[in-house]
Amino acid sequence: MSRPAAEPVVHIDDGRFRVTEWRFAPGAETGWHIHGHDYVIVPLTDGRLELGLPDGGSAEATLSRGVPYSRRTGVAHNVVNGGDEPLAFLEVEAVDSDLSARRLETLDRFLAAWNGRDVDALMACMADSCAFRASGGPGADGTRHEGRGAVRAAYAALFEAFPEAAWTRGRHSVSGDTGLSSWRFVGVTAAGERVEVDGCDIFDFDGDRIALKDSYRKNRG
Ligand code: NI
Repeated sequence: MSRPAAEPVVHIDDGRFRVTEWRFAPGAETGWHIHGHDYVIVPLTDGRLELGLPDGGSAEATLSRGVPYSRRTGVAHNVVNGGDEPLAFLEVEAVDSDLSARRLETLDRFLAAWNGRDVDALMACMADSCAFRASGGPGADGTRHEGRGAVRAAYAALFEAFPEAAWTRGRHSVSGDTGLSSWRFVGVTAAGERVEVDGCDIFDFDGDRIALKDSYRKNRG
């Protein structure tokens, strides 16, 4: 059974702020979206939200009329009116945080390039001066690969080591010059060993491209 769509009414869109009134009939939903800007929600009614989350779970939130709250760029969810009454809020987005939005798009493209086994697409996301610190290696900070040539070789070697590899459950956020992506890696080595482990990357940006990918994985014992 499909839900009705929440109705957006844009009141202000001046390049600095976008102010959207969202009206929800009971059971209505926004559909899946990733917030590309920091934002403030001002409830116009009391209400109860059901939030669909990227990991397949859900959460509930209570709206109190006139009591605002703020969230950062990168929130990903589907918002559903979980109550029996119509519900409405104002969403105030700081749209001039364009750089953060472009950085989030870079992280989306980067994850897609991993799943597409596309080294050229990966390197298109990397800055002219870039580095990769692997999750394993002899040093406390993992094996370091400095410069585009070394980074490209390390990415290609990873695809060779894992003829099958997928990065699932990708989630991204950007705060200032730092990005964070978490994922579940599911792969099979050239020797046929299956690997399934959660991990994350912490990124430094240069403009909207990645200057450093610093990787971490759970240590399965
Ligand atoms: Ni939202």
